[in-house]
Amino acid sequence: MKTTFVTAAVFLFACKSPAPAETPQNIAVKQAPEESYQKSIDDSAKKMLERGRDIFRDESFGSEQFWGDKLRLHEVIAGEKHGGTGQGLTPRTALALGLRVDFGRVPSALGDVIKGGTLSFDDAENTNNLLKHDAVVGVKAFYEGDRMVSVGITCALCHSTTDDNFGKGIGRRLDGWPNRDLDVGKIVALAPNLKPIAELLGVDVATVKKVLESWGPGKYDAELLIDGKAFRPDGKSAATLIPAAFGLAGVNLHTYTGWGTVTYWNAYVANTQMHGVGTFFDPRLDDAKKFPVAARAKTGHARPKVDHVTENLAALHFYQLAIPPPKPPDDSYDKRLAAQGQALFNGKATCARCHVPPLFVEPGWSMHTAEEIGIDDFQARRSPDERYRTTPLRGLFVRAKGGFYHDGRFATLGDVIDHYDRHFKLGLTENEKTALANYLRSL
Ligand code: HEC
Ligand code: HEC
Repeated sequence: MKTTFVTAAVFLFACKSPAPAETPQNIAVKQAPEESYQKSIDDSAKKMLERGRDIFRDESFGSEQFWGDKLRLHEVIAGEKHGGTGQGLTPRTALALGLRVDFGRVPSALGDVIKGGTLSFDDAENTNNLLKHDAVVGVKAFYEGDRMVSVGITCALCHSTTDDNFGKGIGRRLDGWPNRDLDVGKIVALAPNLKPIAELLGVDVATVKKVLESWGPGKYDAELLIDGKAFRPDGKSAATLIPAAFGLAGVNLHTYTGWGTVTYWNAYVANTQMHGVGTFFDPRLDDAKKFPVAARAKTGHARPKVDHVTENLAALHFYQLAIPPPKPPDDSYDKRLAAQGQALFNGKATCARCHVPPLFVEPGWSMHTAEEIGIDDFQARRSPDERYRTTPLRGLFVRAKGGFYHDGRFATLGDVIDHYDRHFKLGLTENEKTALANYLRSL
C-alpha cells in the first residue's frame, strides 16, 4: 500500500510541482493513515482480550442442548421449587464436588451473609440464587422466571478456580488455573439421563457410571468420547489431570500429547467434549482402529446449520495467550537453593535440553516418545502423533495437587526428579535434588 502511495506521490511531484505544504510525505501520510491503522491494531487487541475473557468465562457454545436438554442435568441442580426434581443442589454438595463461587458476582445481600459466616450451606435456594447471577464458575444456567430450563458449561468450569478469600471454594476468580478439586465425573453422573453418552460409546448406562466414578477430582478424559478407552491396561482410569490454561503463548503444541495449537484444541473441546454446537473438521478422527467412536459418529466432520463455536475462536485464542503464568509467593521456596537448582537444570540434570527457558518447552515440534521420557505409551497412543509433549513448567506451584505428569503418576516434584535421575542416569546427590525441586517451585 505504502509503496504505491509513495510512487504515486513521486510521480505527481515529477509532473507538477505541488504547493509547498503538500510534500510527497504529507500526501502519503494523509492517504495511508498509519497512526490510525496502528490504533486500529491496539483497539482490536483490547477488544479481543475483553471478548475472549467473556467467552472463556461465560460462553456455553450451545452446550445446554446437551447437558440440559438431553442429560437433564439442570433438573437435579434446580430442585422441585425451580422446575426440577428433588431438593436441588445445595451449596455444600456443590462445593464438595469442587465447584467454585466467584465472589465478584455474588449479589450483595448474599455476599454479606457469606462474609458474616451465616450462609445456609444446605439450602439449594442459595445455589439457585448464585446460578441466576452466573456466580458458579463455569456453570451457565438458563432460567425462565424462577424456573431453571437448561444448563450448559463454559471453559472456566475446568480451567479456573478461586482464591478462597471468603471460605473454601468462594473467592476471586483465577482464570487459567486448573481446578484440581473439581470432580467432573461425579457431576456428570448426577444427570438423570446418561443414555446419550452410553449410546455414543455403545455401552450401557451402568458402564458409563462406573467410568465417571473412576476419574476422581481434578481429572477428566478428553479422549474417551473418540476412542472409548476408559481404563489403562493396568486397570487404572485413563483420565488425565486438568492442565493449566495459562503461560501458553509461544508454545506450539497443546495438550499432554500435542493434539494441535490452542485454537485447534479449543474447537475440539467446545464441539466434541463440551458438546457445544459448531463446525469441527479433523479427518484424523476417521481412523476407525484408533478412534472407533469418533469414526462411527463422524466427529471430525461436524457442520451444523447454526454454529455457536466458530465465531468465538479468535478472541478465545487471543485471551488464553494473554494469561501469564502466576508468580510463586516469595516464601514458597528457598532462593539460594533455587539458584543452585537453576544451574543444575541447565547443566548436569540436562532438563533444559527439552524444557528450554524461558518457555520451558522446545521452540518447534516439542514431542517425545514414551521411551525418551521413560514412561508407558498408553496415553501417547491415544493421540495422532503417539508422543508426549514437553510440558511448559511455569506456574507449577498452582498445579501440584493431583501430582505431576499427564496422569499425576508422580505425587511430588521430588518424585519427578527421582524418575529423571534414574531414567537419564544423572547421578544427582540428595542436595542437588533438593536444589532442583526448589528451582521448579520458583518457576
Ligand atoms: C471438563 C473439563 C474441561 C473443560 C470444560 C475444558 N477443558 Fe481444557 N482441558 C481439560 C483436560 C483434561 C485437558 C488435557 C487434555 C489432554 O491432554 O488430552 C485440557 C487441555 C486444555 C488445553 C491444553 C493446555 C496445554 O497445556 O497445552 C487448553 C489450552 C485448554 N484445555 C483450553 C480449554 C478451553 C478454551 C476450553 C473451553 C472451550 C476448555 N479447555 C474446556 C479439561 C477441560
Ligand atoms: C527428553 C525431553 C525431556 C527432558 C530431558 C526433561 N523433560 Fe520434563 N517433561 C518432558 C515431557 C514430554 C513431559 C510430559 C510428561 C507427561 O505429562 O506424561 C515432562 C514433564 C515434566 C514435569 C511435569 C509437569 C506437569 O505439570 O505435570 C516436570 C516437573 C518436569 N518435566 C521437569 C523436568 C526436570 C526437572 C528435568 C530434568 C531433570 C526434565 N523435566 C527433563 C520432557 C522432558
